[in-house]
Amino acid sequence: TRQYTRDADGCVCVSGVPVTELARQHGTPSYVLDERTFRERARAFREAFEDALRPLGIEVAVYYASKALLTTAVVGWATEEGLNVDTASGGELAVALAAGVDPARIALHGNNKSAAELELALRVGVGRIVVDSLAEIELLSGLARDWGTRAPVMIRVTPGVHASTHEFIATAHEDQKFGLSLNPARDGEDSPALTAVAACLEASDALDLRGLHCHIGSQIFAAEGFGQAAERVLALREAVAARWDVVLPEVDLGGGHGVAYTAEDAPREVAAIAGDLAPLLAESLKASELPAPHLSFEPGRYIAGPSGCTVYTVGTVKTVTVAPGVQRRYISVDGGMSDNARPVLYDADYTAVLGNRVSHEAPVLSRVVGKHCESGDVVVKDVYLPGDVAAGDLLVVPVTGAYCWALSSNYNWLPRPGIVSVAPDGATREIVRRETVTDLLARDTGVVDPAGAIT
Ligand code: LLP
Repeated sequence: TRQYTRDADGCVCVSGVPVTELARQHGTPSYVLDERTFRERARAFREAFEDALRPLGIEVAVYYASKALLTTAVVGWATEEGLNVDTASGGELAVALAAGVDPARIALHGNNKSAAELELALRVGVGRIVVDSLAEIELLSGLARDWGTRAPVMIRVTPGVHASTHEFIATAHEDQKFGLSLNPARDGEDSPALTAVAACLEASDALDLRGLHCHIGSQIFAAEGFGQAAERVLALREAVAARWDVVLPEVDLGGGHGVAYTAEDAPREVAAIAGDLAPLLAESLKASELPAPHLSFEPGRYIAGPSGCTVYTVGTVKTVTVAPGVQRRYISVDGGMSDNARPVLYDADYTAVLGNRVSHEAPVLSRVVGKHCESGDVVVKDVYLPGDVAAGDLLVVPVTGAYCWALSSNYNWLPRPGIVSVAPDGATREIVRRETVTDLLARDTGVVDPAGAIT
């Protein structure tokens, strides 16, 4: 069964459910999440890396990077498909716990975790805490002693690999806030990463150092960056074994696996990336006497992105003359940068299709824009849409499952859309309900007449 089809009336369907039906029942804008696609992508990712790395004797674990899209339903699908859960704050951790995830299957990340967040992680017994600084190692070991427990930790290192399609989401540069560098500040000194290992081993009564972690960026389309990062991280693992006779059992290569937002994007299939990575890892492991580590990955976008779309209703349509004889058609929809900040933040490209009908009118170059008071409020920069698109039509913007709801805001006091899931049998459910202005006003402590709030 395909995620998107058109029915006899020409209406776009998500797993067989017409978007007109979804819009009628749940309103617009709405995020629509296809449960089957989410589950299939989660399983496909896990199986691709398990299959590719099994011949090397490498065991694989996959942590769903919940920052991409986190609701209790979604995290349930991920764990049912055999994934663990990566969280990056106390709030994300709380949602995973509320979904009933076994704490042993949860990882906690963050470059500035508070004592309260670390205490929560220790109290519930998360499976790993990824430490990001020497200060955190000290704080965490103190807390673990107070709690009479031993914290399972990974050390996040910066392997210095640039692997991203956009500067703002590249995290492996040396000059950035995440991780501990593999390069010494001065010749002859230990690198910050090695110093962190020493600190963890010294505090071994309180910290159980499980391994090393790195994350090289986002929207990555090839295996080479992961292979290079692995090579450097495995070299540190060797150095640790040589110096302290300690074999770190785990290595995490982070997330960042790319998806196609438009026809221009051509990411390799995840099975191909896993297949390409295997010989690179084999090469790095060949010289080593150490047993192969367990490897883990943290995909977010790969799983959530293509599983979701946004359904908007068209409002104003306006044709503007941008130069003599050159026109651009602006199609305004009932959402915008508040439900998808990625075009504004990262210059991200999306596409859109007419959702409620098929039109045989000639396509016109169009810009889909939101309803916010900002000229940069663009949803789709350039897309050909039929010449007769008009108020009341529905537009479907695909691949909005990752980092759209997660980054959404209430700019201009727009209530955030709900998330509607479509089950494999076509059952629909609002897994996160749409906000109302009353919800938002409930936090304004100066409201004079609560009954006056119009929803
Ligand atoms: N692991 C770590 C440590 C991360 O920092 C991230 C993403 C991931 C995993 C998941 O990366 P993914 O597989 O989803 O690419 N808001 C930006 C993306 C920021 C990603 C931050 N970290 C965007 O919308 O493109």
